[in-house]
Amino acid sequence: MRIGVLCSGGDSPGMNAAIRGAVLRGVDVHGFEMIGFIDGWRGFHEGEFVQLDRPAVRGISPLGGVFLGTSRVPPFGTIPTDEEMREFREKMAEYGIDGFMLIGGNGTQTVSKILSDHGIQVVGLPKTIDNDLCGTDYTFGFDTAVSVASEAIDRLRTTGESHSRCMVLEVMGRDAGWIALHAGMAGGAQLTLIPEFPESIDQVCDWVMSVRDRGRSSLVVVAEGFTFSDTGETVTREGVDEMGRPRLGGIAEVIAPIIESRTGIETRATVLGHVQRGGSPTAFDRVLATRTGIAAADAALAGKWGNMAGLRGDRIELVPFAEAVGKLKTVPEERYAEVRLNFG
Ligand code: F6P
Repeated sequence: MRIGVLCSGGDSPGMNAAIRGAVLRGVDVHGFEMIGFIDGWRGFHEGEFVQLDRPAVRGISPLGGVFLGTSRVPPFGTIPTDEEMREFREKMAEYGIDGFMLIGGNGTQTVSKILSDHGIQVVGLPKTIDNDLCGTDYTFGFDTAVSVASEAIDRLRTTGESHSRCMVLEVMGRDAGWIALHAGMAGGAQLTLIPEFPESIDQVCDWVMSVRDRGRSSLVVVAEGFTFSDTGETVTREGVDEMGRPRLGGIAEVIAPIIESRTGIETRATVLGHVQRGGSPTAFDRVLATRTGIAAADAALAGKWGNMAGLRGDRIELVPFAEAVGKLKTVPEERYAEVRLNFG
């Protein structure tokens, strides 16, 4: 069996470890041939790939990014035409591949499902720092992003308190506030603002004032997709993501001056940005990613295509694509209630 490995969407710490796990099990144990397409579907379209074997993956687990490269290039239009599927199958035949291991988040696993529905053999490896993919408890990359964000909170707190300032930290999370929630809880932020639970700007300012009344300086964590309940305001940057949606980023820079002008408290904004996606994965992410890769190789051997290798409790289980895509895993009310204990 010859398998094509491909990464798509934004990178996520742990992708290298996932590929290594899949190759060690797939090539060395199951006897597969494996190739890795460079820069995701771009490499597939243009015939750029490398052989994946033990030497190719030696020592890569601690490395950030992904050595194969990734891109947001799609394999076909939103719904593939018969002509596109014919060309797709021709490419597979040209490369001699029987199936795919697709490493990606929501957009990628939606593609995995479409391909599966067209009879293409695919096993999915879920990844996203946002942790918003259904069918898995955690995605690799999330723990690393939370570690970086909570370290940023710790650092912002000391400088903020020294100057009696309100510090606003923006973290990633377009549709789901998991990074903000976990980092906010770990760092003891006085306010954690997430897309799932819009709040009014008056309420935000009241919380900041009540923190000041208790003699403390506020640390506000905000996910990039947060909107004010009174204005519905989001902040978009130039360009679109893999799903054609506007890129977000900059909500902290909108909130900070409003807090400052309404409360009179000097306020500073920090946008953490891609720092939280880069660098070496945590041990947790390396282990999760490696186990995901191993499970994907086992699924291919067993012919259990059409599934994603998701984490359920402490086990990696095969989850049908239909259970994973078409909806987002968002922060439920009871989790928001936990972090709200710290508000104000
Ligand atoms: O990987 C998902 C994500 O981190 C989102 O939270 C964020 O909106 C987006 O990627 C940023 O994408 P890009 O790297 O393309 O700017």
